[in-house]
Amino acid sequence: MLTQLCYASVASAHFEPPALQQLLEKARANNERDGITGLLLYGNGHFVQVLEGAAAPVSALYAKILSDKRHRQVFELYREPVTTRDFHTWAMAYEQLADFKPDFVLDRSSARQLVELFLEKERTLTLRR
Ligand SMILES: Cc1cc2nc3c(=O)[nH]c(=O)nc-3n(C[C@H](O)[C@H](O)[C@H](O)COP(=O)(O)O)c2cc1C
Repeated sequence: MLTQLCYASVASAHFEPPALQQLLEKARANNERDGITGLLLYGNGHFVQVLEGAAAPVSALYAKILSDKRHRQVFELYREPVTTRDFHTWAMAYEQLADFKPDFVLDRSSARQLVELFLEKERTLTLRR
């Protein structure tokens, strides 16, 4: 069963680009191996991440992410069965949001709005290419 899980968290320290790059490289290599796709958003010291894949690998990854000291206050926004992936071509898509307002992401519907914004931008870019 395909699952999509989304959480928000607070970065423990300011993430410089090399540290983020390193995190993403590791994440993408692992995710490709484990059939996981998704999106990582970072802005104003906050993360929002979407993980999608089979339920067991998604749960196993989320358990590792929960105990990662690079962030805290990890808060699950939703976890639900899905029929298709939103991020099927990305081992982990990434976007930095300069104007990210963490107070905005409090529940499933605000998290989905962020995800839809990202997907809409991607669709526009793909059409322009
Ligand atoms: C915000 C955040 C997002 C992360 N996303 C992923 C991810 O998508 N995939 C992944 O394998 N690790 C991710 N990690 C890293 C994991 O917490 C963990 O360090 C890593 O999976 C360990 O990999 P290893 O078991 O191969 O050493 C993330 C960590 C943070 C702080």
